[in-house]
Amino acid sequence: MPLRLTIAIDGPAGSGKSTVARRVAAMLGYVYLDSGAMYRAVALKALERKVPLENEDQLEILARETHIELKPPAPEQEAAGMTNRVFLDGREVTREIRTDEVAQAASRLATIGSVRHVLVAEQQKAGAGGGIVMEGRDIGTVVFPNAELKIFLEASAVTRAQRRWMEHQEKGEKVTVAKVMEEVRERDKRDRERKVSPLVRAKDAVLVDNTAMGIEETARLIVLLAREREKTSA
Ligand code: CDP
Ligand code: CDP
Repeated sequence: MPLRLTIAIDGPAGSGKSTVARRVAAMLGYVYLDSGAMYRAVALKALERKVPLENEDQLEILARETHIELKPPAPEQEAAGMTNRVFLDGREVTREIRTDEVAQAASRLATIGSVRHVLVAEQQKAGAGGGIVMEGRDIGTVVFPNAELKIFLEASAVTRAQRRWMEHQEKGEKVTVAKVMEEVRERDKRDRERKVSPLVRAKDAVLVDNTAMGIEETARLIVLLAREREKTSA
């Protein structure tokens, strides 16, 4: 019986983490977890309650009092591209958390160490048994520093913005590529430059640039690496 690995996938916005991680998990029969959805869910709650994003104490309390559940989508939802279904205090917010406003609020909230502490503990609990593909910004560096396989997923800034723009198009949202590029750039800068758990490649993470690679190709490459690690870690 091969060992069930912990696979950490980190990288900037639009690099393909959610799509690729979900595919890898499906191929290996592992659980997939989108840690960014947790930051987004707390951010949505803060926006709804009009908690100022500078108020660290109040945001920590909010994070502690929040119950987030990530569930796998139904097969037809999965076929339509849905990753995790997200429940905030029992209410489904899968779509609500996918706006640019929530993304920006999430990245501001993610600079607060005490908020991260609460969410990281949840993520560690969720992945404790292995057999998991978790993606985010600090999975290989902070959440699972001992993960058997770490991937740092990259793609050029233009490609990442174009991918995000395509998603807006598909949802019928009118926005220019330049505007999307600005949103992604601002968030990446904040994520890379923050003091607590910045987005950085772990020393032992494999750098995969999928600018010129499709989802399937990228997922297969990671599965190949995972199969090797399953053998050597057993
Ligand atoms: O989670 P992250 O922000 O890193 O990216 P994503 O949401 O998984 O991917 C952003 C978009 O790029 C999705 O619509 C993917 O289908 C697409 N994508 C792609 O076209 N080619 C890839 N190699 C990876 C992702
Ligand atoms: O899908 P996309 O890459 O656009 O973003 P996401 O993964 O949903 O994450 C939203 C925001 O949450 C990011 O911009 C980060 O600021 C934060 N985040 C984090 O700090 N650490 C994580 N492990 C995951 C997300």
